[in-house]
Amino acid sequence: METKTTLISPAQKDEQLGYCQKIHAMWNSQGFTPKAYVETYGCQQNEADSEKLRGILIESGYAITDSAEGADVVVMNTCAIREHAEQRVFGNLGALTHTKRRHPGQKIFLCGCMAGQDHVVERIKKSYPHVDGVFSTHHLWQFPEILYRVLNQGKRVYYVQDEPGSIIEGLPQARDSKLKAWVSIMYGCNNFCTYCIVPYVRGRERSRASADILAECRSLIDAGVKDITLLGQNVNSYGKDLAENVDFSDLLRMISEIPGEFLIRFMTSHPRDAGKKLFDTMASSPKIAKQLHLPFQSGSSRVLKAMNRHYDREKYLEAVNYAKSRMPDLVLTSDVIVGFPGETEEEFEETISLIEQVRYDSLFTFIFSPRKGTPAASMDDPTPKEEKNRRFDRLCAVQNAISEEIHNSYIGKTMRCLVDGTDKDNLTARTEGGRLVRFCGDRSLVGSFRDITITGATTWSLTGTLKES
Ligand code: SAH
Ligand code: SF4
Ligand code: F3S
Repeated sequence: METKTTLISPAQKDEQLGYCQKIHAMWNSQGFTPKAYVETYGCQQNEADSEKLRGILIESGYAITDSAEGADVVVMNTCAIREHAEQRVFGNLGALTHTKRRHPGQKIFLCGCMAGQDHVVERIKKSYPHVDGVFSTHHLWQFPEILYRVLNQGKRVYYVQDEPGSIIEGLPQARDSKLKAWVSIMYGCNNFCTYCIVPYVRGRERSRASADILAECRSLIDAGVKDITLLGQNVNSYGKDLAENVDFSDLLRMISEIPGEFLIRFMTSHPRDAGKKLFDTMASSPKIAKQLHLPFQSGSSRVLKAMNRHYDREKYLEAVNYAKSRMPDLVLTSDVIVGFPGETEEEFEETISLIEQVRYDSLFTFIFSPRKGTPAASMDDPTPKEEKNRRFDRLCAVQNAISEEIHNSYIGKTMRCLVDGTDKDNLTARTEGGRLVRFCGDRSLVGSFRDITITGATTWSLTGTLKES
């Protein structure tokens, strides 16, 4: 698929940063520090985008707050993946009429994936007059200009034209954590799974140059970051659109060769092109976490074809078996959709049998939600809602039992974990596979890798004791 990526030039970026300075100067001259609140919905890609929104706001003189009440700027960074996600946003957006009434100077922005859909933009225009600005993911880099115009022009601003997609380097980013970092390696998606809205709202696949990614990782590691998650809707496609000859496995290897003590993980890997080279690379470096999120969506090859996933049950199982053979301690997670249009009881049972065969550590489970403009939204869907709910509950019960068994099998093992925070009187840590462990210890341990012996387990988390070194 041809991609027409627009590279945003340093001059264009500087122009945007110029708007930040103008806004900052305006607030300074009033002797006032305004407050800004960013609310994030959806996936890690949106979390990473929100860090950029906060970076821009800080650069413009705002202090970040954790509530819309009393904030001078509110940004809703939205998700369009399922109906329920959109309804929550519309509900919370409606409630902002009250915060704005109590604080009339408040400026409200809606961005993210919902802002990439025409029908959403129309609905905001018509029914949410308190929203001051709307911009889609393609226009996030222009947020300084959008904010400046809203503050100075007193009229509503829309930056929602559809585009194949752009790449910008060097936007300010206010990272949430000093220990863990998201690094987007690519944007967009070309896969057009028939149920999914993402390719319509995030544009075509485009990869960042490997030198830019490596430089970002190096500076994060120098700053003390210990856990880097590489982000993309389909990381296995990394590099296909670049002139340089580099694929995702090459990129992983290059990052793992940066000196220092850290772990790299990534999401999401599409089973269509997750192959031996990737798993061999993972197995070859202790710095690459033995954790794999490999969404299967359905255990039925017929349903997978209708979903346009480009692999079947056999090919999926082959990939998983190879990955497990190379990495016996691999922590495997996945996404699954129940009730895709036309899914029969037998096909649902194939999903259950795949779960029982693979034995995932945990699963993200979803009931099919029709998204306007996607092919699956107009497919025949005779299965009643109650039946889909029943399938969903059954699937969750099967998975919960497996998760609990796997967690119990950790008891007695000693695992190297990153101590990442505190929780009441306990410390929290993450295993290499991303499992949460609570244990007692001194706060000074936060930020270090430690060996922890697991002493207890529930479906969701582990408890342990520190192994004295
Ligand atoms: N790029 C990732 C997925 C991103 S969306 C991948 O291809 O694996 C995260 C998950 O949401 C998907 O894996 C899918 O399980 C679920 N999802 C996406 N669209 C959906 C829809 N219309 N209804 C229900 N679940 C959906
Ligand atoms: Fe959506 Fe499929 Fe792309 Fe994932 S790979 S974002 S499910 S279209
Ligand atoms: Fe949602 Fe957009 Fe992510 S639709 S799941 S926030 S890419």
